[in-house]
Amino acid sequence: MCGIVGYVGPKSTLDVLLGGLRRLEYRGYDSAGVSVISAAGLETRKKAGKLDNLVGEIDSHPLPAAHIGIGHTRWATHGAPTDGNAHPHLGGSALKLSLIHNGIIENFAELKAELVADGVSFSSETDSEVAAHHIAREYEKSGDLVAAFRFVMNRLHGAFTILVIHEDQPDVVLAARRNAPLVIGLGDGENFLGSDVAAFVEYTKRAVSVGQDEIVVLKADSVTVYGFDGQPVSFDEFSVDWDASAASKGGWSSFMAKEIADQPQAVGDTLMGRLSADGVVTLPEMSGLSAADIKALDRIIIVACGTASYAGDIAKYGIEKWSRIPVQVELSHEFRYRSPIVTPNTLVVAISQSGETMDTLMATRYAKELGAKVLAICNTQGATLARESDAVIYTHAGPEVAVASTKALTAQITAGYLLGLFLGQVRGVVPASELKALGLDLLKMPARVAEVLEGLDVASDLGAAMANAKSILFLGRNVGFPVAMEGALKLKELAYIHAEGFAAGELKHGPIALIEEGQPVIVIVPSPRDAESLQPKVISNIQEIRARGAKVIAIAEEGDPNVADYAEHVIYVPQTEPMFAAILTVIPLQAFAMALSTAKGLDVDQPRNLAKSVTVE
Ligand code: M6R
Repeated sequence: MCGIVGYVGPKSTLDVLLGGLRRLEYRGYDSAGVSVISAAGLETRKKAGKLDNLVGEIDSHPLPAAHIGIGHTRWATHGAPTDGNAHPHLGGSALKLSLIHNGIIENFAELKAELVADGVSFSSETDSEVAAHHIAREYEKSGDLVAAFRFVMNRLHGAFTILVIHEDQPDVVLAARRNAPLVIGLGDGENFLGSDVAAFVEYTKRAVSVGQDEIVVLKADSVTVYGFDGQPVSFDEFSVDWDASAASKGGWSSFMAKEIADQPQAVGDTLMGRLSADGVVTLPEMSGLSAADIKALDRIIIVACGTASYAGDIAKYGIEKWSRIPVQVELSHEFRYRSPIVTPNTLVVAISQSGETMDTLMATRYAKELGAKVLAICNTQGATLARESDAVIYTHAGPEVAVASTKALTAQITAGYLLGLFLGQVRGVVPASELKALGLDLLKMPARVAEVLEGLDVASDLGAAMANAKSILFLGRNVGFPVAMEGALKLKELAYIHAEGFAAGELKHGPIALIEEGQPVIVIVPSPRDAESLQPKVISNIQEIRARGAKVIAIAEEGDPNVADYAEHVIYVPQTEPMFAAILTVIPLQAFAMALSTAKGLDVDQPRNLAKSVTVE
C-alpha cells in the first residue's frame, strides 16, 4: 500500500517524482523519500511523516539536477514510521544502489540472516533493505545489474513491487512486480513507472499494466519487459481514460468533498451505455457467460472488503429479488480461509475500487482454483483484479483519492443494480415490464443524487455540531442496514469515535442496552410507499430507543409524513424505488462524517493509520 514512482527522461526528475508522490500520497503517508542520480552520483532524501516533510528536507538540503530517479510514499509494515525506515534503502559495499518497495517480503528473516553472517550492517528495520543489499552484492559479483536483479527477485517470497537504480548504470530504472501493482507510463524520449497511473497521468496517457512476475527495464528511449524466467514478454498499451485534473482537488477543500460532489457523474457514467432509454440493461462485459450459463447459476458469492463489501450487501437485495439466484456476501479475507461451497455454476463477484486489495485478490484466486467464474466490479483500469478476472464491469467513478470511499461506493452500488437487472432479464423470473420500470427509475438516479447534494447542509451542520460526541449509533433495515454500517465505518475512519451500525430488528436482541440518555442514533427510515414497507417496524424501534433517552436523526424520503414526530432532526432525500434508496441515503452520512471530522480538526483525506489501497493481507 505504498506509492511508487520512477522516471527517466529529460524533465526535472525531482518535479516528476514529487508530483507523482503528491498524487500517490493517498496510498500511504507514514514517510516519503526520493533518490536521483546526477553527474555527482546517487543522492537520497527521506523523511518520516507526510510528503511536505520531505519537501522541507529537500529545501534544506537541495538535490542536484538529474534525469533519473525513484520516489516512495510509505504505509509502514516492517518497522515504525521513522526517517531510518523511510524508503529508498541503499545497498552494496559503497551504497551505490537505491531501492524502493511496496509489499511484504515474507522470507526476509532468512535472507537477512545470510547477510548478517557475511557482516553486512543495516540502517533500518525494514524487510526492503534486505533486498537492496542482496541485489547490490549479486551485481558486485557479476557486473550484470539486470541479471542480479532477476536472480534476487526469484529468491523473494511474498508481495512486492520493487524499483531499483544504481549509480554505475545511470540510464536505467529496473522494476519488478509480484502481487503488488505496477504500471508503466510511455512517453516520448522519457518513460515512467507508478503504482497507478495517477503517478504520471499529467505527462502521458499511454500506459501498460505490468503482469505478475515480470521485470521492467526502463530507459528514456526504450521499455523492455521480461518474465522472472528471463524470457522477453510482449505487452499491450491502454489509454488512461481520465486526465490529471480528475485527480486534483479542483478548488474543493478536500478530495473527499470533491468526490462527494462527483457522485451524480460517477453514477451517470457507470450507467452510461448500459441502460437504454426504455429501461433495458445491456452488459457486453458479461458476454463470456451464455444465457444457458446464467440460467444454470446456482449461487453468487460477492467478495469484497470495507465499503466495497457494503456495496455488495446492498446489491444482494436487488440481485436476489430480480434474478432469484441466492447471493451471499463475504468479506474476502474470511472467504479465502474457510471451505466455501463453490461449484462450476457459482459466479463470484469481486468488488473493489482499487482492484489491488490483496484480500480480495486472494479470494478471487481461490475462487478460480475452486472452479468458479469471477466477475470483477472495479474502478481502476489495468488493475490486477481486472486482469485476473474472467470479466469486468468497470465503474466509471474516476480516480478516488480520499482514503474514505464515497463516489466509488455509489458507483459500485449502481453496477450491482445493473448486474441484478441484467441477470433478471436473462432468467426471466420477474416480468420484463417490472424490470424495465426499475431500469427507467434507475435512469433518474444521477439527477436525484444531484438533488441530495443540494440539501447536504443539514447533514453537514449536524455533523459539525456533534464534534464532541463519544459514540454514535446507526440503525437501518433491509437496504438501510448496510447503509447504517457504512455510516458507522465512515465515522470511525474519519472521526476516530465509536460508531456502530445495526440492523434495526436486532436492537432488542442486545444492542438496545447501549442506549442511555443523550445517545445520538442515526436511523435510516424505509419508504412508507412500499406495499411491504418495514417503516412501521422501524418507527417502533425509534420509539423504543427514544423512550430510553436516544436523540434521533432520521434519514427519510421527501413527503414522508410519519417521521418528523419521532425524531429530533430529519434529513430528507428524494423519492425513488425503495430498492434504490441506498444510493441516496448514504450520501448525507458521508457529509455528516466529513463535517464532524473537520470540526475536530482532523485530516479527512488522510485519516490516521490508514491507506487507500490495502495491498497486504
Ligand atoms: O479498493 P477497495 O475497494 O478494494 O478497498 C476496500 C476497502 O479497503 C475500502 O473500501 C475501505 O474500507 C475504505 N477506506 C472505506 O472508506
